[in-house]
Amino acid sequence: MADLCERVQKADWKKEKHVPVIECPDQVKAGEIFQVKISLGKEIPHPNTTEHHINWIQLFFHPEGEKFPYQVGNFEFSAHGESTAGANKGPVYTHHEVTASLKINKSGTLYVLSLCNIHGLWESSRKIVLA
Ligand SMILES: [Fe+2]
Repeated sequence: MADLCERVQKADWKKEKHVPVIECPDQVKAGEIFQVKISLGKEIPHPNTTEHHINWIQLFFHPEGEKFPYQVGNFEFSAHGESTAGANKGPVYTHHEVTASLKINKSGTLYVLSLCNIHGLWESSRKIVLA
Protein backbone atom coordinates (compact mmCIF):
# COMPACT_ATOMS: atom_id res chain seq x y z
CA MET A 1 0.00 0.00 0.00
CA ALA A 2 1.33 3.44 -0.92
CA ASP A 3 1.99 6.13 1.68
CA LEU A 4 -0.14 9.25 1.53
CA CYS A 5 3.05 11.17 0.59
CA GLU A 6 3.17 9.18 -2.65
CA ARG A 7 -0.32 10.49 -3.47
CA VAL A 8 0.70 14.13 -3.10
CA GLN A 9 1.36 15.54 -6.55
CA LYS A 10 4.13 17.96 -7.51
CA ALA A 11 4.72 19.81 -10.77
CA ASP A 12 5.79 23.11 -12.28
CA TRP A 13 3.10 25.70 -11.46
CA LYS A 14 3.63 27.29 -14.87
CA LYS A 15 2.46 24.07 -16.53
CA GLU A 16 0.00 22.63 -13.99
CA LYS A 17 -2.94 24.64 -12.66
CA HIS A 18 -3.17 22.84 -9.30
CA VAL A 19 0.30 23.63 -7.98
CA PRO A 20 0.21 26.25 -5.21
CA VAL A 21 2.30 29.32 -6.06
CA ILE A 22 4.23 30.73 -3.08
CA GLU A 23 5.20 34.38 -3.31
CA CYS A 24 7.40 35.81 -0.54
CA PRO A 25 10.81 37.42 -0.04
CA ASP A 26 13.86 35.16 -0.63
CA GLN A 27 15.51 36.72 2.43
CA VAL A 28 14.07 38.21 5.60
CA LYS A 29 15.44 39.58 8.87
CA ALA A 30 14.98 37.48 12.02
CA GLY A 31 11.79 38.45 13.84
CA GLU A 32 10.58 40.80 11.12
CA ILE A 33 7.03 40.20 9.89
CA PHE A 34 6.74 39.37 6.19
CA GLN A 35 3.93 38.23 3.93
CA VAL A 36 3.49 34.96 2.09
CA LYS A 37 0.95 35.00 -0.73
CA ILE A 38 -0.37 31.63 -1.85
CA SER A 39 -2.47 31.20 -4.97
CA LEU A 40 -3.48 28.55 -7.47
CA GLY A 41 -3.92 28.90 -11.20
CA LYS A 42 -1.58 31.88 -11.59
CA GLU A 43 -0.46 30.79 -15.08
CA ILE A 44 -3.19 28.33 -16.08
CA PRO A 45 -6.53 29.15 -14.41
CA HIS A 46 -8.19 26.52 -12.23
CA PRO A 47 -11.96 26.19 -13.02
CA ASN A 48 -13.10 27.45 -9.57
CA THR A 49 -16.78 26.61 -9.83
CA THR A 50 -19.20 25.21 -7.27
CA GLU A 51 -18.57 21.73 -8.70
CA HIS A 52 -14.79 21.99 -9.08
CA HIS A 53 -12.82 23.99 -6.56
CA ILE A 54 -10.09 24.05 -3.92
CA ASN A 55 -11.19 22.87 -0.47
CA TRP A 56 -8.23 24.08 1.56
CA ILE A 57 -4.68 25.37 1.59
CA GLN A 58 -2.25 24.60 4.44
CA LEU A 59 1.06 26.32 5.11
CA PHE A 60 4.03 24.81 6.97
CA PHE A 61 7.53 26.02 7.87
CA HIS A 62 10.36 23.56 8.24
CA PRO A 63 13.36 25.18 9.96
CA GLU A 64 16.76 24.05 8.69
CA GLY A 65 18.20 21.20 10.72
CA GLU A 66 14.98 20.35 12.60
CA LYS A 67 13.05 17.12 12.31
CA PHE A 68 9.45 18.33 11.97
CA PRO A 69 7.66 21.10 10.07
CA TYR A 70 5.51 23.63 11.94
CA GLN A 71 2.03 24.46 10.71
CA VAL A 72 1.54 28.22 10.35
CA GLY A 73 -1.59 28.49 8.22
CA ASN A 74 -4.87 26.67 7.62
CA PHE A 75 -7.21 28.21 5.07
CA GLU A 76 -10.53 26.49 4.46
CA PHE A 77 -12.82 27.37 1.57
CA SER A 78 -16.24 26.17 2.69
CA ALA A 79 -18.16 28.44 0.31
CA HIS A 80 -17.54 28.77 -3.42
CA GLY A 81 -20.44 30.88 -4.74
CA GLU A 82 -23.19 28.27 -4.57
CA SER A 83 -26.40 29.53 -6.19
CA THR A 84 -30.12 28.77 -5.77
CA ALA A 85 -30.21 28.60 -9.59
CA GLY A 86 -28.11 25.40 -9.46
CA ALA A 87 -24.54 24.17 -9.75
CA ASN A 88 -22.23 26.57 -11.59
CA LYS A 89 -25.13 28.99 -12.31
CA GLY A 90 -24.22 31.80 -9.93
CA PRO A 91 -22.75 35.25 -10.69
CA VAL A 92 -19.69 34.87 -8.45
CA TYR A 93 -17.05 32.25 -7.59
CA THR A 94 -14.23 32.03 -5.08
CA HIS A 95 -10.67 32.59 -6.28
CA HIS A 96 -8.40 30.58 -3.98
CA GLU A 97 -5.74 33.02 -2.91
CA VAL A 98 -4.61 33.84 0.62
CA THR A 99 -1.94 35.91 2.33
CA ALA A 100 -0.32 34.87 5.61
CA SER A 101 1.97 37.02 7.77
CA LEU A 102 4.89 35.27 9.46
CA LYS A 103 8.12 35.95 11.32
CA ILE A 104 10.96 33.44 11.55
CA ASN A 105 14.17 33.18 13.54
CA LYS A 106 15.77 30.41 11.47
CA SER A 107 16.23 29.84 7.77
CA GLY A 108 14.08 27.07 6.34
CA THR A 109 11.54 25.96 3.80
CA LEU A 110 7.89 26.90 3.39
CA TYR A 111 5.66 24.03 2.30
CA VAL A 112 2.14 24.44 0.95
CA LEU A 113 -0.41 21.64 0.60
CA SER A 114 -3.73 22.12 -1.16
CA LEU A 115 -6.69 19.92 -2.00
CA CYS A 116 -8.78 20.09 -5.19
CA ASN A 117 -12.13 18.32 -4.74
CA ILE A 118 -11.65 16.55 -8.10
CA HIS A 119 -7.87 16.33 -8.64
CA GLY A 120 -6.51 15.58 -5.17
CA LEU A 121 -3.54 16.76 -3.15
CA TRP A 122 -0.81 19.09 -4.43
CA GLU A 123 2.36 20.38 -2.86
CA SER A 124 4.92 23.08 -3.46
CA SER A 125 7.79 24.54 -1.46
CA ARG A 126 10.05 27.57 -1.30
CA LYS A 127 13.24 28.26 0.61
CA ILE A 128 13.54 31.35 2.74
CA VAL A 129 16.76 32.46 4.43
CA LEU A 130 17.67 34.92 7.16
CA ALA A 131 19.51 38.00 5.90
FE1 LIG B 1 -9.03 20.69 -10.01
